[in-house]
Amino acid sequence: MVDFNFPGRVEAVSVALPQDIVMNGRLVRTSILREAVNQPIFFDQKGPKNNRTAVHSEHVLATPLEHYSIWPQQLGLDASDWKLGYWGENLTISGILDENRLPIGTTMKFGNDALLQVVGPRLPCYKLMWRMGQPDSFIPEMMLTGQVGIYFRVIETGWIKPGDRIEIIDAPDRTITVGELARQLSKKSPGDADKLLGALAIPCIGGQSAAAIRRKLNQVLDGARAAAGQWKGWRRFRISRIEEAGTGVKSFILAPNDNLPIAGYLAGQHLPVRLRAGLIRNWSISDYDEDSNNYRITVKRHDKGRASPLLHHLCEGDAVELRNPQGTFTLDRSSLYRPVLISAGIGLTPLLSMLKAHAKRPNPPPAVWVHSTRNGASHAHREEVNDILARYPDFRSIIAYSSPRQEDRLGQDFDIAGRLNKASFHPFLESYPLMYAGNEIQVSGLESPFYICGPADFEAHVRNILIEAGVSPEKIHSERFSAQLTFGQPAEGRHAEVTFSLSGKQAEWSTDVPISLLELAEENGVEPDFECRSGTCHRCETRLISGDVAYLHAPAVAPREGYALLCCSTPSGTHVELEL
Ligand code: FES
Repeated sequence: MVDFNFPGRVEAVSVALPQDIVMNGRLVRTSILREAVNQPIFFDQKGPKNNRTAVHSEHVLATPLEHYSIWPQQLGLDASDWKLGYWGENLTISGILDENRLPIGTTMKFGNDALLQVVGPRLPCYKLMWRMGQPDSFIPEMMLTGQVGIYFRVIETGWIKPGDRIEIIDAPDRTITVGELARQLSKKSPGDADKLLGALAIPCIGGQSAAAIRRKLNQVLDGARAAAGQWKGWRRFRISRIEEAGTGVKSFILAPNDNLPIAGYLAGQHLPVRLRAGLIRNWSISDYDEDSNNYRITVKRHDKGRASPLLHHLCEGDAVELRNPQGTFTLDRSSLYRPVLISAGIGLTPLLSMLKAHAKRPNPPPAVWVHSTRNGASHAHREEVNDILARYPDFRSIIAYSSPRQEDRLGQDFDIAGRLNKASFHPFLESYPLMYAGNEIQVSGLESPFYICGPADFEAHVRNILIEAGVSPEKIHSERFSAQLTFGQPAEGRHAEVTFSLSGKQAEWSTDVPISLLELAEENGVEPDFECRSGTCHRCETRLISGDVAYLHAPAVAPREGYALLCCSTPSGTHVELEL
């Protein structure tokens, strides 16, 4: 219940017009540098006079005066030179209910005439973080507090000046508060679909809030879909169809033997596939279909491998076993910005799933598809990707062939002969137009989320280019081919005794079959936990009782002292004992 008896007061009225300023080395158009004016300002439906927003569609931003003490205290900032208007607000207000008790839809009278209605929370962005001297990663933390500022719309025009009284005229009883909606929209919040849908149904909800709610709902509903239909352990599937997807590349459609519903998945996830006892691989789901009762994986045959030749040898109707889809390399479908999907070779499979999932968003933002492969013969799923790109004129692509054939046509089949380099990415790092809350705005390409999948050297090469160009590392998400973690050149003819102490088993490892310790354990009926099988998730970390291991690629984060990551290591001496 809202307390109508509060003595609100206007502390300052501030205005600004958009200007170009340099923030963290980048030229940015913004109106955040607002200055308080010591005179009455007329507020009409477009907000205060002599004021315009650079990006936002909501016209009046208010900040409670308490923010000038709460946040500097919490963050240990010296705010002695923060003048009113520092937060970029039009109205600095005091005595008002804070965001966590203020329902959206509340109508207030400012001064003698102006009627303003609360339409949603401020959605903090990198510009506010720059003003506060905080990294962008602080945005979700700030939103979780709910203390972010308040957007209003003008219902009745009027003059407002410092010292004016603020009265609550009307407040809805059961609508979500400004603070609660900010919390719901934080990236760190799982989100509550009912609350979000309720907020979306508020007649006066602001355009920015509505757009943010729709994006968040994508994330919430994706999570619910992925959590549905999960099973325990291994489940039998059959290969219901096999399709050629390129030279040496096949897609396998996998349907459950029991015909019961399958688990949902997030675009980018993989399936652990057991081809026979002890032979397990993770293969990415290469499709995205929320209604289908099967999965599609696309697998390149590696002649020197053990699993892909066996899979390619299987026929329609043959059985495999699957665990639930898993993996954290997934598309965030709540992002406002244009995703850039960058792959090499068969690394395109999770990104194809992401491209399809992105295209299924209502009015999807643009997307960029960047793919590098040897030539037209190895270019898997080309038609499928081209069909999607053709349907969305603002989706862009760039295709690099490292070794084009004579029949591959530059400008039609591919855009770059050779390797992707700095210049290849340049067009996608510049500003581009984006529809935001009904307005077209310009946003920097550096704000995009970047998803990379390919061999380790490709991933490192692209990551370096992006970081040198100014992309912040937290915007880069990547997955390396696990197929690259082959244990190809250990010393000739070396053998090692491996003891799995808890299960009382022993096995011999040899350079003749230089498999990982994880595979050796599985071959011998020991089932360590695993997820990524490529040295990133640490699920397979196991205590080393004696002996030592060698890594082909150093894991991104080393295991704890005295532990080993089994999925990417082999014995380095003649004996290893593991607590398994
Ligand atoms: S399974 Fe992920 S690090 Fe080994």
